[in-house]
Amino acid sequence: MAQEGAEAQKVHVKPADAQSFVEEVLQGNGVSPENAAIVAKCLVAADLRGIDTHGVNRIPSYMTRVRQGALDAKASPTWKEITPVVGQVDAHNGFGFLAADLGMGKAIEMARTYGIGMVSVKHSNHFGMSAWIVQKAIDAGMMSLVFTNSSPALPAWGGKSKLMGVSPIACGAPGGKEKPFILDMAPSVAARGKIYKAKRRGEKIPTDWALDGEGRQTDDPAKALEGVMLPMGGPKGSGLSIMMDVFSGVLSGSAFAGHVTGPYDPSNKPADVGHFFVAIKPDLFVSLDDFRERMDYLYKRVVDSDKAAGVDRVFFPGEIEQITEETRRKTGIPYVEAEVNALDEEADKVGKPRLKVDA
Ligand SMILES: NC(=O)c1ccc[n+]([C@@H]2O[C@H](COP(=O)([O-])OP(=O)(O)OC[C@H]3O[C@@H](n4cnc5c(N)ncnc54)[C@H](O)[C@@H]3O)[C@@H](O)[C@H]2O)c1
Repeated sequence: MAQEGAEAQKVHVKPADAQSFVEEVLQGNGVSPENAAIVAKCLVAADLRGIDTHGVNRIPSYMTRVRQGALDAKASPTWKEITPVVGQVDAHNGFGFLAADLGMGKAIEMARTYGIGMVSVKHSNHFGMSAWIVQKAIDAGMMSLVFTNSSPALPAWGGKSKLMGVSPIACGAPGGKEKPFILDMAPSVAARGKIYKAKRRGEKIPTDWALDGEGRQTDDPAKALEGVMLPMGGPKGSGLSIMMDVFSGVLSGSAFAGHVTGPYDPSNKPADVGHFFVAIKPDLFVSLDDFRERMDYLYKRVVDSDKAAGVDRVFFPGEIEQITEETRRKTGIPYVEAEVNALDEEADKVGKPRLKVDA
């Protein structure tokens, strides 16, 4: 989660300007206008929620993958029904955002009719922040599970080299009058994107996030990227990462067991990421009014908990990000100068307008 303020000087960008900037750069790289609008919306959604590690700043690395011929900017995902409540999306090596948007859309459609919809996605790419897919289900009044696998970054528990991905596990449920439940968490102490962000911004990282290439603790993001991420909760974090691989990789027919290619990989090898989505109608066992009231009761029980020493406020999962979004919709999205420069370079490469920054 992003901490506002502290570090480097920031400029602010209106969400609508970030959206149109990304759309233009994507179109300049061969993405259709409809697909560019979807990808841009997901990246801006991450920045709005304070997940700066998975927002618009990913554009230079995604475009590098397109230029390397590793990611097909022109591809659109296709759908195949397997049973009335199960289907598969083939991403055809296009943007993971497009495959996930189609996949969760289909899962929601099936859940409306049958109570549940389950979708496997193959031959995909990185889809950024999982919470936008959970939010899509919430906007349709649905509960959801959102799984993905990813490139090697974590050792299996007891191992010393990268094998499993820092693959986020996410799920959500709509609330009533209170905030919805959105849990979206990497199985590592910190998401690897936070290390890339610290490197980009010239910042140090906490020493419990990763080990360097020699297996030593480090506060240097560049050295951490040469080593391994540390799983949260030891074997439990490592086990969750394997779980993401079983449901997203093994089941789908995509790469798994350490064979997914990373979004920063310098080769032209497709990522072959797999995803797994479930949408569930919340009024299968109690009425919708009851469900919403029960969610609100849970929310209140959580946020009204007796606070531990030094804690000002107890939050519901996803709440901090929603508060950040409310603020950023008013103030604009903060970026540091180096990030704006990297984005402008991408615009220059395809002759598109630079990012409009507020005075
Ligand atoms: N696509 C990929 O391959 C990939 C890989 C890794 C991470 N990611 C994304 O990176 C993002 C960051 O992951 P992360 O694990 O660093 O997230 P995080 O540690 O910031 O948050 C994890 C969860 O804990 C909740 N949370 C955080 N602080 C809280 C508090 N004080 N009280 C109550 N709840 C709190 C958040 O709402 C969130 O649901 C996620 O959006 C994830 O999807 C994507």
